[in-house]
Amino acid sequence: MILAIETSCDETCAAVCTPDGEVLSSVVASQVTDHAAFGGVVPEIASRRHLELLSPTVITALREAGIDEDQLTNVAVTAGPGLIGALLVGVSFAKGYAYARGLPLIAVDHLHGHVASLQLAENPPSGAHLVLLASGGHTLLIDVADDGSLTTIARSMDDAAGEAFDKGARLLGLGYPGGPALGGLAGTADPRTRAFTTPLHGRDDLAFSFSGLKTALALSVQSLAADDQFGRSELAASYQEAIVTHLVERAELGLASTGRTTLGVVGGVAANARLRDRLGELRADVVLAPLSACGDNAAMIAMASRTLSPLTPNEMTSLDAHARSPLG
Ligand code: KG4
Ligand code: ZN
Repeated sequence: MILAIETSCDETCAAVCTPDGEVLSSVVASQVTDHAAFGGVVPEIASRRHLELLSPTVITALREAGIDEDQLTNVAVTAGPGLIGALLVGVSFAKGYAYARGLPLIAVDHLHGHVASLQLAENPPSGAHLVLLASGGHTLLIDVADDGSLTTIARSMDDAAGEAFDKGARLLGLGYPGGPALGGLAGTADPRTRAFTTPLHGRDDLAFSFSGLKTALALSVQSLAADDQFGRSELAASYQEAIVTHLVERAELGLASTGRTTLGVVGGVAANARLRDRLGELRADVVLAPLSACGDNAAMIAMASRTLSPLTPNEMTSLDAHARSPLG
C-alpha cells in the first residue's frame, strides 16, 4: 500500500492506494477560505496551515482506507514544483514518516502527478499520448511516449491558464479561486457579443500566452458602467471563450505535430465545463481527468509514484523541496 502526500500549494492532501492503482482513500483539506480574504494564495499562510492540517489529513486517509499503518509499503511525496515553504512541510513529514517506519520514500514531480491523474479516469490512455496540463501555475503540452517518459513540447510565454482565470475573475470583481467563479458569471451569456482575439490565432507556435487577453479584459471592464451586470456576464463569457479556444487550438497543433491520436486533459482548468465541451471538436480520443482529480490531490501522486524508483538512503537524507520542475 502506498501512502501519498501532496502539499505543493493550498490543498493539504493524503491518499492511500494499492500497488496496482486502486485508490482506497483520497483526502483533500482545502485552505480556500484561509486565502479567499486575500484574493489569492498567501505562501506563508499556506505553509502554516499545512503544518496544522497534514497529520490529521494523513490519519483520516488511513482510517478511510481501512488499513493499518503496518500494511504500508511505500511513502510518496510531491517534492516540487510549487510554493517552497508549502512543499517543505510535506517533504519533511514524508521523510520523518518513512524513516520512523522503515519505508522506502518516492519523490514525485507535481506535474508528473497531474499527468498520472489520467490513470484515475474510467478509460485511461494506454500507450503514447499527448497531455494538455492547464493549472494555476502551468500550461503545458506534455508528450508521453510508449515507455511512459515525459517531454514538454509547449509552455506558456507568460501567465498560466488558471492564473488567467483567477486574474480575470479579480478584474470582474469575483472571489478566489477565480476559475469556477468566472465560469459561473459567464453562464449562458453569448461569448460572441464582445469577442476577444484568441491569443496566437493563426500562428503555428507551440506555445501559450494569456497576458494580452488579461490586458484586453482590463480595458473592457474600465469602459463598462458599474451597474452593467449583463455586460459583465458577456465579458466573462468572451474571456472564458478566448482562453478555451486558445487551449483547444494549441492542443490541435500539438496533436498534429506529434502525430498522437489521444489527448489527455488534466489540471484545475480541466474542470472547466466550457473547455470539456469544446474538446469534443478535436479529432482525437479525448481522456479527461475525473472532476475529483483535476485539482490538486494525493491520489495522482500515488499513481505517478508507481512508475518511479524509491530513493536510496543517501538520496532520502538529502531530499529537498524544489520550486521549479524540468517539465515546467
Ligand atoms: O491544478 P490546480 O488545482 O493547482 C495548481 O497546480 O495550480 O489548479 C488550480 C487552478 C486555479 O487557477 C483555478 O482558478 C483553476 O485551476 N480552476 C478552474 C476551474 N476550477 C479550477 N479554471 C476554470 N474553470 C474551472 N471550473
Ligand atoms: Zn496542481
